[in-house]
Amino acid sequence: MSGLSESVYEKIIKSKKRVQNHGEVFTPKRIVKQMLDLPNIRESCQNLTSTFLEPAAGEGAFLVEVLNRKMKMVVKNYGDDLIRYENYSLLALSTLYGVELLEDNAQKCAMNMYQVYYEAYRHQAIEHGAKVKNKVLDSAKLIISNNIAQGNFLTKLSANGNPIVFSEWQLVNFRKDAKTIKIQRTEYTIEDILDGTEKERGEPSTHSVKVEQLQLFDFFDDEEIAETVEKRMKYVPVKITDVYKEEMEVVHG
Ligand SMILES: C[S@@+](CC[C@H](N)C(=O)[O-])C[C@H]1O[C@@H](n2cnc3c(N)ncnc32)[C@H](O)[C@@H]1O
Repeated sequence: MSGLSESVYEKIIKSKKRVQNHGEVFTPKRIVKQMLDLPNIRESCQNLTSTFLEPAAGEGAFLVEVLNRKMKMVVKNYGDDLIRYENYSLLALSTLYGVELLEDNAQKCAMNMYQVYYEAYRHQAIEHGAKVKNKVLDSAKLIISNNIAQGNFLTKLSANGNPIVFSEWQLVNFRKDAKTIKIQRTEYTIEDILDGTEKERGEPSTHSVKVEQLQLFDFFDDEEIAETVEKRMKYVPVKITDVYKEEMEVVHG
């Protein structure tokens, strides 16, 4: 390599130790592209709703390239209208999932994906003489942070010891080429997915159950007592550009 600048070469290993301990060798971009150009995979990369899961994601070599390809399709099909672009680009983003064991790689993977999303969106906004919207960027961040899990794909456990949970972002009342998209989020553990467990739309995983905090008053002492009452909650259907709000409602009955 002497005589050539380092940028000519992609860094495919970080250290010998990491290779030995975690099998960490990154796939060069050229090889990633060749693999994604294989028949059927190439077409899936151009399909906004086809789902990808990278079980040992590293810094996201494959996910980032799939996202690049999907974002190009969004421009091609919906680039004439910024609202459409915002909605369909978030839909494309919501189909990409990854698991990575090491914290630094998992963070880099999420950052790399956000950077691709942000740059592509910013470029489109400029083309339309508009500014990027915070709600779109916040929704992109929320989707990426839920779709990229730090954990062990073999044990199916995340770094905190709980099962890895993924969200399915299901289309609600979708009409072809609709200008805006509504989705409803449902959570599954990897075990649920592999077992084909059926869940009600909007149901969170038991490992991320949200509880309602009730403020009760003691009438005699006028004292406020905070009591945590467990209530079943579910995610409600929302515009995909509002998904960052993580809106839930109490399930009655
Ligand atoms: C060979 S590298 C490939 C990374 C990426 N897919 C690429 O092609 O550039 C393998 C990655 O898997 C991660 N890894 C190793 N064991 C894992 C496990 N049990 N679950 C999830 N990730 C794992 C390593 O930390 C490493 O980043």
